[in-house]
Amino acid sequence: MNAVTASRPPWRARPRGALSEAITAVLLTGKVPTDGPLNVPTHADPWGEDLQLTLYLLYELHYRGLPDVSDDLEWNPDLLRVRTGLEQAFLAALEADVPRGRTVADAFDHLLKEPADLSGSVSAHLAHRADLDLVREYAVLRSFYQLKESDPHAWALPRLTGRAKAALAAIEYDEFGAGRPEAVHAQLFANLMTSLQLDPDYGHYLDHAPAAALTTVNLMSFFGLHRAWRGALVGHFACAETASSPGARRMVKALQACGAGPAAVHFYAEHITADAVHEQLARHEVVGGLLAEEPWLEQQVAFGCDATVLVENRLASHVLNAWRNGRSALRHPLDRPASPGRPRTPE
Ligand SMILES: [Fe+2]
Ligand SMILES: [Fe+2]
Repeated sequence: MNAVTASRPPWRARPRGALSEAITAVLLTGKVPTDGPLNVPTHADPWGEDLQLTLYLLYELHYRGLPDVSDDLEWNPDLLRVRTGLEQAFLAALEADVPRGRTVADAFDHLLKEPADLSGSVSAHLAHRADLDLVREYAVLRSFYQLKESDPHAWALPRLTGRAKAALAAIEYDEFGAGRPEAVHAQLFANLMTSLQLDPDYGHYLDHAPAAALTTVNLMSFFGLHRAWRGALVGHFACAETASSPGARRMVKALQACGAGPAAVHFYAEHITADAVHEQLARHEVVGGLLAEEPWLEQQVAFGCDATVLVENRLASHVLNAWRNGRSALRHPLDRPASPGRPRTPE
C-alpha cells in the first residue's frame, strides 16, 4: 500500500497568469518585499485558472505546505492580504450565482431525491460509458479534494459545541479511519489511484488540474479557515455527505464495468454504506445542533450547501463538455497506463 505522502519536489504547478506568477515567485524565493505592500495583479477572473491556482497555493500553506516553500509564510501578513483580496473576489462571484435567503430545507430537500434527469451527472456518464481512460481522468480531477477529504471540516470542531460537535467528531472519526490508518478515506482514495495506475502522491497532478476542480477545494478551504463562515462550512459538510451515496453507487458500477480492481471499487463501495449513516447524522445532529445553538446561521448553512452544489455542477459541466467534444477534461491529458486495461493492486 502506498501511503498518502506530503507533496514533494519538483513543484508541478506552473503559473497560469500574472497573479500566480507573482505569488509563485514569492513562495519559492521566500522574498516578500519589505519596502511596501506586495504588488500583485488583483483583477483576475474569480473563476479563472490564474486566481483559482493562486488561491489553492496560498491555502495549501495551511494544510501540508508546499515543497521548497518556507512554513513561515503561512501567516505572512502580505500573503494573507493578497489571499483576502482573492477570497473577496471569489465570494462575490459565489454570491452572484447562489440564491440568497434560503432555508436549510430549501437547500437540502432536492438533494434527498434522485433526479430524473442525470444528463449532467459525471458518475452517470461513467456508469454508462465504462471507459477506463475517462475513469482515470475523473480520479485525477477528484484527487485534489479526496486526498484531503474531511481535513477542512475538522477546522469546524473547536467552533462547535454540544450535539453538533459530538456528531461531527463521530463522522470525522469514520472519515479518518476509526483509528486505522489504512482505513482513512483519503488513503482509500490513494489506493484507488494506485489501482488505476495513477500516482497517489499528494499534489502530483496539480499542473493537470483545471480551475473547476481547484474551485471545489478552494470553497471548503475558504469556509474552513474563517470562523465567521462556520455555518457555511457545516452546510458544505452536510451537503457532501448527503449527495455522496447515489453517485458512489454509480461509480461502483462504472469501475466494475471497466475492469477496475477491488481497491478502486472499495473507495466508492465504502461511501455507499458509510454516507447513508453520515448523511442522517450530518443533517439532523451537526446542522440541527448548530442551528439549535445559533439559529441566526440558517441562511449561511443553506448558502454553504448551495455554493457546494454550484461548484460541483460547474465541475461536472466542464468535464462533460470536454468529454462530449472528444477532449480531455484535464489541462494536459494523462499518459496512458503501462498496461492498459489491467489496473494494479495497491502494494
Ligand atoms: Fe469519506
Ligand atoms: Fe462520509
